[in-house]
Amino acid sequence: MNMPDLIRRKRDGETLRPPEIEWMIREYTGGAIPDYQMAAFLMAVYFRGLNREETAALTRAMVASGEEMDWSAIPGVKVDKHSTGGVADTTTLVLAPLVAAAGVPVVKMSGRGLGHTGGTIDKLEAIPGFRVHLSREEMVRQVKEIGLAITAQTGNLVPADGKLYALRDVTATVESIPLIASSVMSKKIAAGADAIVLDVKVGSGAFMPDLASARELARTMVDLGREMGRRTVAVITNMDEPLGMMVGNALEVKEALAVLRGGGPKELREVCLTLGARMLLLAGAAGSEGEARRRLEDLLDGGEALAKFRQFIAAQGGNPEVADRPELLPATREQITITSPAGGYISSVRARLIGEAAMLLGAGRAIKESVIDPAVGIELKKRYGDYVNASEPLAVFHVNDRTNLETARKKFLAAYTLAPEPPSPRPLVYEVID
Ligand code: URA
Repeated sequence: MNMPDLIRRKRDGETLRPPEIEWMIREYTGGAIPDYQMAAFLMAVYFRGLNREETAALTRAMVASGEEMDWSAIPGVKVDKHSTGGVADTTTLVLAPLVAAAGVPVVKMSGRGLGHTGGTIDKLEAIPGFRVHLSREEMVRQVKEIGLAITAQTGNLVPADGKLYALRDVTATVESIPLIASSVMSKKIAAGADAIVLDVKVGSGAFMPDLASARELARTMVDLGREMGRRTVAVITNMDEPLGMMVGNALEVKEALAVLRGGGPKELREVCLTLGARMLLLAGAAGSEGEARRRLEDLLDGGEALAKFRQFIAAQGGNPEVADRPELLPATREQITITSPAGGYISSVRARLIGEAAMLLGAGRAIKESVIDPAVGIELKKRYGDYVNASEPLAVFHVNDRTNLETARKKFLAAYTLAPEPPSPRPLVYEVID
């Protein structure tokens, strides 16, 4: 086998055999295939695609490039949840304790944010003292004790994806359905859950801009999960505007706490209930979606989900008082109100620009090595469809360093389109692919 031949055949639209894909991933991970050849191959895939068998072979080869977690020591169906990446998407911080409070064990490996999207590990690190690196033994012990543990993904989990994703990021080959599907699913399979609920985002702040492509990505991932013996379901949700009202790490923890207390933005609560119900159904912990939702609503409104979050923070070394006193989370020196330059109905909110504005303030990473400030971010005051008067606040920027303030403000304001008439309502949850 040789790489120029595989690149040429994919470029010409041929189908590769599973052993060829396995060879390529093994040699690339081991360093024998250089980045420039893999970059050419990825671009060929971007234009020609991969069929179902090729995508499955790629996913299997990626899983085999590293360690595979085995949680069989923990009784019960372990469920995991994954989002394809959004802005103000705090669902994991709500769902993990909520689903655990319903008696379903949650063993989760999460990542950090990059670019305009946030990462669960960065958010958890905003909690003073919280430890994000747990050993396998600590994970097992903690899940047995309190039903839930979250750790940062280790470098040894799908190392092929670490290399490939970094290369895709700089070669304009991220937005390819088979490449996204194999990247996401290889990590989910290697992370060892028995059941996986996928939150596939669609809209201006997501990788998938339209419903047809989101549906195709969801179908591809659900089929991959099933082929590899995992109960898998995907929910397609709206990412045309940020999901919650807070963008930034400590701010998003605060918002998750509000939802865990039975409040918070109704859109965030609704997506959590939809995904959570699917998690309970996959785990066999509820007989119908209606029953699952009612259980979860009771756990949010009755304080059990918040109590589980408190227990979870304490178990991972954080200050559990944060659950009742969010003011203990890091806060900025300055809070700057951003007002609307004109009046009108908000007819479009480009979530990606809001994520990028928060990143410029220091909430996210432009490159992997960037240092983030847990306290900074953007607190939104208006949503899609709201009316805003000229000079009325659109947001509050939480700021420690003014260096990029003006660029962030311009980017933020560019996210909004105002219209004289109210826009038509849009669904929050489009459909479930199972
Ligand atoms: N998230 C991933 O983990 N991989 C992708 O390719 C895109 C989003």
